[in-house]
Amino acid sequence: MTTSTAPPALSVRDLSVVFRTPTRVVHAVDGLSYDIAAGEVLAVVGESGCGKSVTSTAVMGLLPPTASVGGSIRLGGRELVGADERELRDVRGREIAMIFQEPMTSLNPVLTIGRQVGEVLRRHQGIGRREARERAVDLLDLVGIPAPAQRARDYPHQLSGGMRQRVMIAIAIACDPAVLIADEPTTALDVTVQAGILEVLQSLRERLGTAIVLITHDLGVVADIADRVLVMYAGRGVEQAPVGELFDAPRHPYTRGLLGAVPVPGRRRAEDGRGRLQEIPGLVPSLTEQPDRCTFQPRCSYADARCGERRPALRALRERDERNEGYEEGERSGTERHEAACWHPVPVRPVLSEHPEGAERSDDAECSGTERSEGAECSEGAECSAECSGAEPSESAEHPEHPERPGQEAAS
Ligand SMILES: Nc1ncnc2c1ncn2[C@@H]1O[C@H](COP(=O)(O)OP(=O)(O)O)[C@@H](O)[C@H]1O
Ligand code: SF4
Ligand SMILES: [Mg+2]
Repeated sequence: MTTSTAPPALSVRDLSVVFRTPTRVVHAVDGLSYDIAAGEVLAVVGESGCGKSVTSTAVMGLLPPTASVGGSIRLGGRELVGADERELRDVRGREIAMIFQEPMTSLNPVLTIGRQVGEVLRRHQGIGRREARERAVDLLDLVGIPAPAQRARDYPHQLSGGMRQRVMIAIAIACDPAVLIADEPTTALDVTVQAGILEVLQSLRERLGTAIVLITHDLGVVADIADRVLVMYAGRGVEQAPVGELFDAPRHPYTRGLLGAVPVPGRRRAEDGRGRLQEIPGLVPSLTEQPDRCTFQPRCSYADARCGERRPALRALRERDERNEGYEEGERSGTERHEAACWHPVPVRPVLSEHPEGAERSDDAECSGTERSEGAECSEGAECSAECSGAEPSESAEHPEHPERPGQEAAS
């Protein structure tokens, strides 16, 4: 993991992307912010349609004209929002590059592999055809393509899916970009090929200090390669944390659901963070509206009245939220902080002795009303003789009075 003092290679601030068509307006990305430092891998996860690809395409400056982009995207100090196409063309490939999910749609079927890799070098580095061809062969070798000189003469259709994806990586890294965005780069590939591609990405960040934004549905991949995770929901960032912390103690109910952190009868838990993202009951909200409430509220059984009235912002969790993690708000840097956009972040770990009216409650135990176990059921007094304040939970409260009602599993 990178140190807190490293300046971000890429800094996205309050990014918004709105698509306007004659029939509708889609708020695909809304107020998204993240930083990524050199040599860091940031995994971006979330259900389909939550804005992962649109965010990446916006960063690359490749959105269609129907999109309006707001906010700021700074690449090594240079502002990309509002930059003209010539400037963006110069930056793309040289300072920032993207690997798409399906390489066949990105490769030119009528040009040889070697020519396509070499073209990027010629465009950005002004070298001759012969030198470009030689360097293309070196790059194909670097990404693990056997017999690279021979493969350089092949056309895309002559290569397997895994080899084509390696070619895409070779093209993407040809000019040693500071930032590489990989949008589900292994989704269409079998497990062995996936492992090879991930090794290439790992070695890139280690050898060249490339900052990698990795979009994936695969929690095993996240656990293996990411330093930090950004969880997106309905166009917004809802949780960001170092990878170990996110798996050990997801604080947003949506993240908990994705990780399968709440056991549901008949569903296998994503053990040790391995496996695919879990399905969450309920529908992803339409992005044509921007309701002034938490957008996860209709699917969240932690919700209370406050969740329906105001939208929570992504904020650093405080020391008392973290429980004994030993830091105060502001002590950890942007890339090390744990942030969640939720009025009632899920407690880090059970504190049964402090609020024992869960499964193992004792009738004469006293409920402190301020610290509650993750597994405890404070179901509005249904079985609990303890006194809660009954007041509206505060922004930082860990005991939101009535969030974990019977049927809480629906949140997962
Ligand atoms: N060109 C477009 N015009 C209108 N809406 C779009 C366009 N591209 C993407 N969207 C919408 O933006 C939302 C986010 O899409 P996307 O970023 O592709 O999701 P994902 O998280 O699966 O990558 C979706 O609702 C999608 O329908
Ligand atoms: S508890 Fe409230 S704010 Fe948090 S995710 Fe659920 S509905 Fe949203
Ligand atoms: Mg996508």
